[in-house]
Amino acid sequence: MPQLTLPGTSEAHPIEACVFDAYGTLLDVHSALASVLQARAGQAGPAIDDARAKSLSILWRDKQLACSWLRSLMRHHADFASVTADALDFALSVHGLDGDPTLRAELLAAYDKLAPYPEVPGVLARLAEGGLPLAVLSNGTPAMLDAGLAHAGIAGSFTAILSIEEIGVFKPAPEVYSLATRHLGLAAPKILFLSSNGWDVHGAAAFGFTTIHVDRQASPPERLPGRPVHRLADLAPLPGLLGL
Ligand code: LAC
Repeated sequence: MPQLTLPGTSEAHPIEACVFDAYGTLLDVHSALASVLQARAGQAGPAIDDARAKSLSILWRDKQLACSWLRSLMRHHADFASVTADALDFALSVHGLDGDPTLRAELLAAYDKLAPYPEVPGVLARLAEGGLPLAVLSNGTPAMLDAGLAHAGIAGSFTAILSIEEIGVFKPAPEVYSLATRHLGLAAPKILFLSSNGWDVHGAAAFGFTTIHVDRQASPPERLPGRPVHRLADLAPLPGLLGL
């Protein structure tokens, strides 16, 4: 059984499965706008320079997450595909780009074809070869996750792809994390949960998972319940930390 090396000690903690967040952790959400702008280069249409593109993409993501939290608090669920489209409409309006339905359609289509972060396919292959069950636990709908993980070429690494649509409430509600313990039949501390979203890591840790923050944005620590056992800049060191 893989053992996770804990920082600053010679202690090791047994891990029986790894569960990954999808968007921002395995799949680069900002690759949607980048790929659409690349395909549009040289064509007629509104000019979107690098600074504006960055701001639009960050606002789209931030609004998507805020709407997911607010809908769960309001108990007015809509699936993540709708929330993603609503957030895009908001972001396009802020940037005065709401008069371009083609851009909207291209960006939503690109969300099903996000690029994986460069180290992801190799790391997943190594973990799977080491015999560790791997799963995804995401806000995404089953259709979004199937399309995105297949397009990234990593769908075959997972024994389970778990969507919050099964329960109709978004992360970081504890019911979401219990989907993984139930599907995998494992006690929470035996599950290593990895996310680039600090709030998701803390939600999972507060639930009882062993967690690692894949801190791709080099952000300061969250002031929230729960604590990750490691912070990594990307997933590359993970097989080594598990002795695989
Ligand atoms: C997910 C979002 C939080 O994949 O990124 O669940």
